[in-house]
Amino acid sequence: MSAKLRRSQGQTQFRFVDTTKKSRARLSLPRVSLRLGGKRGSAKDSDLVFAQGDDYIICENLVKIYQIADIEVFALQGLDMVIKKGELMAIIGASGSGKSTLLNILGGLDSPTGGRVTVGAWNLSKLTSAEAVIYKRQVVGFVWQNVTRNLIPYLTALENVELPMIINGTYDRAWAEELLDAVGLKDRMRHKLQELSGGQQQRVAIAIALANKPELLLADEPTGALDRASGRIVLDVFRKVRDLYGVTVVIVTHDMSMASAVDRYVRIRDGKISSESVRRVVEAQVDENGEQVENAEAEETHDEYTVLDSAGRLQVPPEFREALNIQNRVRLHLEDGKIVILPPEDSAS
Ligand SMILES: Nc1ncnc2c1ncn2[C@@H]1O[C@H](COP(=O)(O)OP(=O)(O)OP(=O)(O)O)[C@@H](O)[C@H]1O
Ligand SMILES: [Mg+2]
Repeated sequence: MSAKLRRSQGQTQFRFVDTTKKSRARLSLPRVSLRLGGKRGSAKDSDLVFAQGDDYIICENLVKIYQIADIEVFALQGLDMVIKKGELMAIIGASGSGKSTLLNILGGLDSPTGGRVTVGAWNLSKLTSAEAVIYKRQVVGFVWQNVTRNLIPYLTALENVELPMIINGTYDRAWAEELLDAVGLKDRMRHKLQELSGGQQQRVAIAIALANKPELLLADEPTGALDRASGRIVLDVFRKVRDLYGVTVVIVTHDMSMASAVDRYVRIRDGKISSESVRRVVEAQVDENGEQVENAEAEETHDEYTVLDSAGRLQVPPEFREALNIQNRVRLHLEDGKIVILPPEDSAS
């Protein structure tokens, strides 16, 4: 296997030659001669340093409107969200709720129509196209549901992991091998796509996404095409690489069992975060003799909180509104340390 770089007007051409199959892939990338470092006009504030547990991703009043002919689609409608550095978290929501739109914005693949979004030192609302290239190549890694979007089929697992490094000019065979070992595929490095199961392919995809040592790993339905057991292994790999390399992991999923296995998940509804659930361990109960009480083993659970946006607005879940026949007005009362939401007096209920 070999790689050749050739520069011509404004373009770096990269030619990857797979000597085993004599097949070739040619990629064209814009040449980037930007020097970032908190310079005037740069979207990166290089003075900012983030430690594990710091607020790392901050979305404030994020809006995304798609315009199709005369129709405007409001994909994100003033979304507020904070993700800590080193968190393993999930975003869950119905189809069309805005999950992929949000992930694409966090990955620098799309830009918001309004609001503000920062990822570490990067202000994504202000990215130039040249900065977006650096951000996508060095700061963020993507894992998609569709494996063909993650992997080049005629390359081995190892070559697939090496490819982004070659493009980035940071080729390192030992690092590629370490990553495949970390995702549990040490003995499958020389296998091609069709020689790997769906779950193994997704684990290669995670290694590929980590090849350029990103700070942030974004995954859009990474287990959507897998059975429950393979999906669980993939999730364990996300947790392992988070623990090993300190990478922040954001997973979009429909799958509630996946969401409930991470530290925290947020629910997105109509382009806004509606609730947040945080994992909590409930201790086992013991009696006065120190014996464990029957049916009171230690267990993990999630505490669910409804999220208020910066203006104090919250979403009342549709099933609650339906149960009390609430349309577009409610009565609010503050009483005995509670805020009570009641249907209007003229409601049919
Ligand atoms: N490129 C686009 N042009 C126009 N509308 C779009 C575009 N991408 C998404 N939308 C619309 O924005 C809304 C949110 O879409 P998005 O893909 O973010 O949803 P999602 O939560 O990822 O759904 P799914 O679970 O089906 O993948 C939808 O109404 C969708 O039709
Ligand atoms: Mg989607």
